[in-house]
Amino acid sequence: MALRFEVVGRFNRARAAHLMLPHFACQTPLFMPVGTQGTIKGLTNNQLEDIGCQIILGNTYHLALRPGPELIDDLGGLHKFMNWKRALLTDSGGFQMVSLLHLADITEEGVTFQSPVDGKPMLLTPEESIQIQNKIGADIIMALDDVVKTTITGPRIEEATYRTLRWMDRCIAAHQKPDVQNLFGIVQGGLDPVLRDVCVRGLVERNLPGYAIGGLAGGEDKDSFWRVVAQCTAALPEDKPRYVMGVGYPLDIVVCSALGADMYDCVYPTRTARFGTALVPEGVLKLKHKAMAGDERPIDPSCSCMVCKKYTRAYIHCLVTKDAMGSQLLSYHNLSYMMRLSKDLHTSIVEGRFPEFVQGFLRVQFPKGD
Ligand code: GUN
Ligand code: ZN
Repeated sequence: MALRFEVVGRFNRARAAHLMLPHFACQTPLFMPVGTQGTIKGLTNNQLEDIGCQIILGNTYHLALRPGPELIDDLGGLHKFMNWKRALLTDSGGFQMVSLLHLADITEEGVTFQSPVDGKPMLLTPEESIQIQNKIGADIIMALDDVVKTTITGPRIEEATYRTLRWMDRCIAAHQKPDVQNLFGIVQGGLDPVLRDVCVRGLVERNLPGYAIGGLAGGEDKDSFWRVVAQCTAALPEDKPRYVMGVGYPLDIVVCSALGADMYDCVYPTRTARFGTALVPEGVLKLKHKAMAGDERPIDPSCSCMVCKKYTRAYIHCLVTKDAMGSQLLSYHNLSYMMRLSKDLHTSIVEGRFPEFVQGFLRVQFPKGD
C-alpha cells in the first residue's frame, strides 16, 4: 500500500482526514479537478497550487493516445512530463471510451473501441489499462470496470457487477508498482442494493488501498443516487479513502460528505466556466447575462481568489464569449470555489460544527426554503 489515511475528525458519518500519497499529503473531503492532455484547461500548475489544489486527474484515455504511455514512461512519468509536483490520479480509461465513443463494445476480454486516430478497432483489457497507468505513474490508479448507465435495468447490470469483480482480479495481478501506486477498486451494481452489496463485499475482501463508488451521476434521480452512496459508504472500511466518481455539483459534494465519502472529481466547474457560468454561494451566476454588463462587483464578494480581487463582473462579461481569458478567469474562480468548499468541509468537521456549516450552505443556496 502506498498511502496512509488518518481520520482526524468525524461528525456522525462525515469524516475529515489526511490522505498521505507518495507525492502529496492531502486533506479530505477533497475535490479533484479533471485534466485532459495533462493540463487543466486554461490554468497553469502555479495557479493550481495557488488555489490549494492538492491532486488532479490525468485522463488515461487521452494520454494513451497522445503522447502515448511509452513516451511518458521514457520521459520519466506524468509528474515530470507535466511538471506537476503534487498528487495525480488516473482513471482506467474504459469509462471515458464508453461515454465519449458510442462505438465502444464491452466483452469479457475488455473494452473494444475504434481508434479516433486511424479508425482501427482497438482492445483495452484490464491488464493493458494497468500497464498504461503504471507507465503514467499517478499516485492513485483505477481498476478497469464495466460501467453501465444507472437508468438501464435487467441482466446487463448483473453481468457488469460480476465482470467488474473478475476484472478487479486481473488488474491486481497486472499491477507492477503497488509500493508507489495505489490501485483503487470501483463499486458497480447500478441502483440494485443486492448487486451493490455483492460488489462492495467482493472488493472489500480484496483489501485494496481505497475504494470508489462508480456508475453514478448518469441521469438517475437524487434520491436513488444518495441511497447508493449511503449504502456503499456504510459497507466500506472506516480506515480507507472513499471516492465518488464523476461527482459533482457543490450540493452533491456536501451531501456525499455527510454520508461519509471523501473524494470527488468532476468536469463541471471548468466546463460550466467555459459556458460563462460562475459558482457562487447562492448557486450560479451567469456572466453572459446582460445585467452583468455594468456590474462593478467581483463575481463573488465573499471569495478571496485572485479573480475576485482583481476583476469585475462587467469585465468578465465583456470577455466571456470573445476571448479565452474569460473562461480562464472563470475556471480559476470556479476551482477556487471548489477548493474553498473542500477546505470548509474539512475544517467544519474537525471543529465539530459540520451541521452548522451544512445549514449555512443550504440556507444560502435555497433562501426561500425551496
Ligand atoms: N467516472 C465517472 N464514473 C465512473 C465509473 O463508474 N467508472 C470509472 N472508471 N470512471 C468513472
Ligand atoms: Zn473568486
